[in-house]
Amino acid sequence: MTQEIVKSALSKVMYPGFTKDIVTFGFVKDIAIDGNDVSFTVDITSSAPEVAQQIKDEAIAELQRAGANNVTVNIKAPVMPKESSSRGKNIAPQVKNFLMVSSGKGGVGKSTTSVNIAIALAQQGKKVGLLDADIYGPNIPRMLGVSDIKPEVNGNKVLPIKAYGIEMMSMGSLMEEGQSLIWRGAMIMKAIEQFLRDILWSELDVLVIDMPPGTGDAQLTLAQSVPVTAGLTVTTPQGVSLDDSRRSLDMFKKLNIPIAGIVENMSGFIAPDTGVEYDIFGKGTSEPMAKEFDTKVIAEIPIEPSIRTGGDEGKPITFVAPTSESAKRYMSAAESIWATIEEINANGGVDNQAVQPTTPPGVSACSSAGASSAQSSAGGCGCS
Ligand SMILES: Nc1ncnc2c1ncn2[C@@H]1O[C@H](COP(=O)(O)OP(=O)(O)OP(=O)(O)O)[C@@H](O)[C@H]1O
Ligand SMILES: [Mg+2]
Repeated sequence: MTQEIVKSALSKVMYPGFTKDIVTFGFVKDIAIDGNDVSFTVDITSSAPEVAQQIKDEAIAELQRAGANNVTVNIKAPVMPKESSSRGKNIAPQVKNFLMVSSGKGGVGKSTTSVNIAIALAQQGKKVGLLDADIYGPNIPRMLGVSDIKPEVNGNKVLPIKAYGIEMMSMGSLMEEGQSLIWRGAMIMKAIEQFLRDILWSELDVLVIDMPPGTGDAQLTLAQSVPVTAGLTVTTPQGVSLDDSRRSLDMFKKLNIPIAGIVENMSGFIAPDTGVEYDIFGKGTSEPMAKEFDTKVIAEIPIEPSIRTGGDEGKPITFVAPTSESAKRYMSAAESIWATIEEINANGGVDNQAVQPTTPPGVSACSSAGASSAQSSAGGCGCS
């Protein structure tokens, strides 16, 4: 046996869920050869035991096919994330953590951020789902390149669609293309509940939820239906956008949702030809707002043409260009978010008991904090 034979055999072992092999990913380390006996370490990013087992089985099979006798595979994997310690109402109990991605206004890059953060978390070994809760303008299917795929139905449950190592569901995947629906408050609540209850999400470490812009019924319903572990606010650097973002951060506070940070998007422009960074909308302007809300700016994402084309063509930059500056920033933002989630759980988790509806059934609360699911299933609160 030689290093070359070992590496070439191991390069036939794909990393589960990805189209790249474990050698290309750089996971194979410390190859030791003694005659026809081989030992090596695979340093993986997933803590799932089935991932380790699959790699081990396939690696042994490939090496034996290449002529090895005894094969010792040491798998180095991160420790299993702690179970969520959150309490209160949870209609999707197989999901350990929920990350609500919000912005004060539309078009600031919420969906782009949600997609890239979700993929970054998956690349860091987490089991990730992405829920497109923007039922007015569902863009996630296009951004993941799955707008032609209709989900499979299993009994009265719907299976999430898989792409780039994550699970995803969106109103866009359930409706015909170009169709638009007019949503009333109660319908929005129902839709959000069904996305959580009737989609067959796996046992997820985290469900990233791309919210519609603003602070309305969808946000409240989500907070009442599941204990939201953390909130992420996406903003652009202009003063007017920051004003709106304050509202989004304030909403997290009112709903008792810990803030995982702020992503300042469209922060400067990196010219693709020269690499020179230009200031367009300003840069670094979210910092004082972060201080005000006792949180931090976890990424400044520049305007990069490949982020937009990646979204339009369904090729997220974090997946297709992982070495790009923006992808690296999404990766480090994801690390920061996960560290915050672990810290929140270590400190007792979150509790959504305090935001549960208090209005007695039958009493109209319109779309205020009191709107109950009893009313929504009865077909609306009767307000105009
Ligand atoms: N950093 C960036 N560089 C270049 N283009 C970007 C960047 N961020 C977002 N975009 C582009 O800007 C547009 C709006 O982004 P996106 O759809 O993510 O915003 P949104 O906040 O989800 O909008 P909406 O409120 O309509 O849901 C998209 O075409 C997206 O590709
Ligand atoms: Mg969006």
